[in-house]
Parts: sequence; C-alpha cells; structure tokens
Amino acid sequence: MPRWPDPDTKSRSLYDRALNVLPGGVTRVAPWQPPYPVYAQSCKGAWITDVDGNQIFDLINNFASLIHGHAHPAIIDAVTAQLSHGTACTMPTEREVALAELLCERVPAFDKVRFCNSGTEAVMLAVKAARAFTGRPALAKVEGAYHGTYDHVEVSLDSRPENWGNDPNPVAFVAGTPKAVLDDTVILPFNQPEAAARIIREQGARLAAVLIDLMPIYTGCVPATPEFLKAITEAARATGAIVILDEVISFRFGYSGGQGVFGIEPDLTTLAKIIGGGFPVGAVAGKEKIMAVFDHRSGKPAVASTGTFTANMVTMTAGLVGMELMTEEAFDRLNALGDRTRSKLSDAVRRSQYPAQITGHGSIFKIHTHSRPVNDYRSAWSTPEELADLAALQAGLLRRGFLISTKGNGFLSTVMTEAELDSFVDAVEGELRILATQRLLA
Ligand SMILES: Cc1ncc(COP(=O)(O)O)c(C=O)c1O
Repeated sequence: MPRWPDPDTKSRSLYDRALNVLPGGVTRVAPWQPPYPVYAQSCKGAWITDVDGNQIFDLINNFASLIHGHAHPAIIDAVTAQLSHGTACTMPTEREVALAELLCERVPAFDKVRFCNSGTEAVMLAVKAARAFTGRPALAKVEGAYHGTYDHVEVSLDSRPENWGNDPNPVAFVAGTPKAVLDDTVILPFNQPEAAARIIREQGARLAAVLIDLMPIYTGCVPATPEFLKAITEAARATGAIVILDEVISFRFGYSGGQGVFGIEPDLTTLAKIIGGGFPVGAVAGKEKIMAVFDHRSGKPAVASTGTFTANMVTMTAGLVGMELMTEEAFDRLNALGDRTRSKLSDAVRRSQYPAQITGHGSIFKIHTHSRPVNDYRSAWSTPEELADLAALQAGLLRRGFLISTKGNGFLSTVMTEAELDSFVDAVEGELRILATQRLLA
C-alpha cells in the first residue's frame, strides 16, 4: 500500500527537488494533491508502480487517453518497430493517411481530418475554422465545460455563485484575460434547452460557433439530454453558427464516437486522447466545405495550421493500432464494464449510508459527495465541506492503492477486469463508511 503522505518517501524527496525548478513543483497541476504528488516509476496495463515500489490501480488512465491502459503490447510492438525507422519526418506518411481513413470510415460527419498535437490545439483550430468560415467573431460554450486552455474556451470554467449571474455571465478564468475575449464568449447553461436556445438566438449573426461536449466532465459528468442537443443545434443552425462537438473525451463512447451514440451530426468535431494510442495528439474533423479552410492549395489557407511534431510517425503508428483494437465489440465490452462499475458503485454508496451519488456514462464515472439531483454545472456545485470529503475520499483510496482524479472521476480501460473493479468498489465503500461515521460524530 502507498505510504503517501508520509514525510520519508522517495516521492516526497522528489517533490522537494522539483520545488526548486518547477513552479509549484509540478508540470501538470491535475495530478497534484497536498502535501505532495505520488511519483510514477513505471506503468503496465491497469497498474502504476510508484517510485517507492507501491502498486496503484490506475483509474485515471492519463485523463481518459489510455483506453488500452499502459504499455499495451500491440501498441508497444508497433511503436518499437517504428522507432528504428524514424520518429518524426517532415514528409507525410502512410500511417497518417490510414488513421484519417479509419476515422472517416467510422464517423459519417467526417469528410476530412486535420491532425495536431493536443486537444487544446484541436479546439483552438476548430474555433478558428468556424470564425474563418462564417466571418463572425463570437463563440458560445457551456458554463463549467473544460475544452483545454485556448483563451475563449476557458471562460466560465470555474464561475461561482457570486459571479455566475442568472443567464450565465462570461467570467474570466485566467488573470489578465482581455475584455475582448469575454465580449466574444457567450455562456450557455448545460441541459437547459429553452434558455440555451434563447441565448444562442439572441446572439444572432455574431456567433461563429456553438461548442459542446456530450458529457462535460466538470458540469457534473451527466450526459446532455436529447432535448438540449436538439435545441442548441437547431438554434445554432438557425443563426448560421457552426456546431463544434468536442469529442476529446466522448469519442470513447462508441465506434462512431459519442456522436454515433447520441445521434448528433456536428459540422466540426475535435478529437485527441484515445486517437493517439498513448502519445500526444489532436485532430479536427468535419464536413468538406468547412474543412476547406485548412486547404492551402489555392495559396494561403484561410486558417494556418501546422506544427513541428504534427502527425509524427510515432503518434500515427500508436493511434492507428490503438484505434484498430477498438472494434465495435471492444467498445461494447468497455461500456458494459462502465455500466457495471457505476451500478456497483451506486450500491456501495447505498450500503455506506453516506449521501454520495455516482454519475457518468460509458466507461466514465464520477463520485459526488452530495446527493442533490445533478443536471448541470450549478446543480453539481459542492459546498466546501463536501469538497473536503471528496478530497478525503480520493486520498483514502490512494492510500488503499486506487487512483481516481481529485475531482472524483474515473476512466476505465479495456485491460481492466471485473475482479479489479470489484476491489475498487469495496475500497470506495470502505472510505464512504469512514466519512459517514465522521459525519455522525461531527
Ligand atoms: C473535453 C476536452 N477538450 C479538450 C481538452 C484538452 O485536451 P489536451 O489536454 O489534449 O490539450 C480536454 C482535456 O482533458 C478535454 O477533456
């Protein structure tokens, strides 16, 4: 069992070194937790071995990107074979064509694909493409939805009761956000069809795009309702705005992505994570007439998109193998494992007598430390006491050898077994029972 947060671990001493050279001692903030993060030594399948030699069952899977867990043999073999033939070449490669073909064959809304190196970059390029195509400035996005770190899409990521307003206000997330960014960002309430459609219509011809995620992780991790999706896509189309579906995470919902499962046909889709087979990746895919903004052949393209490591040989190799392994049967099995895990977690919550709840879809779950109905960012909002309990739950699970995100999310992989997940459910029940007892004593 991990000895974190003991003061005499190798992780602790690495963090002390890191504090000298990295702001806050880390490069990524998400896996940090006080008093110090656990440092990984190696990873294989569903398991991480930390620098102190502990085994940790990894339910984060590099934030939903490792759909086959760590170091899947088929991906490692293909990448190892590729390494001696080069890693990145200025010239295009067959693998890049093959991965784009695979994506276009699977998803009806994809005529063309433009690769890049991250989901952030994909979302930025999709927004720029929408602006170039429509000649309009503004972007509509959902309150609390995370889409990476491009200026406009970060707005209202962490708005609070004291500043979020009735119709959601555009609230700066980053210090120094220019006013122009806020002026050109329109915030929609999630899963509120009438209000969201009205706000879109009010923007009229200013709106270049409506950016949506089928299940934004930070708006409570509940799926978009069919009514919400219908209302906002119809309103977007009525105003002439492009519908951008951010499938950076939800592409793991099915063989034709989340859009196949939820029955929505966006104009543009952003991808990343699972399509890179464990390596850095991003992509914009969509309808021919809009994707033409990236076409350089008549001179300067309307939207410049390039990047030194874009479509590099390693990512394209890993991505192709990883996606080929994701057959329709593989998606079905993974989603069934997700349904089973959420159902068992809900049973564990009931038995524990702690007022928690489980949300999610497909291979994703989230544990909430309150039992109020969750439908959107505001209803998912937790009190400081509930957040303290979530932190205690996450830390307790880590000490038992199970890693979920500090926000309570987990993302399953194809290499996980029912037995491993049952042990995880037992651990959650054990931690919730402790929290329930503490509440009684408080
Ligand atoms: C829905 C969504 N969009 C975009 C991004 C940004 O992707 P990346 O971290 O690859 O830049 C993320 C990252 O988690 C995401 O969840």
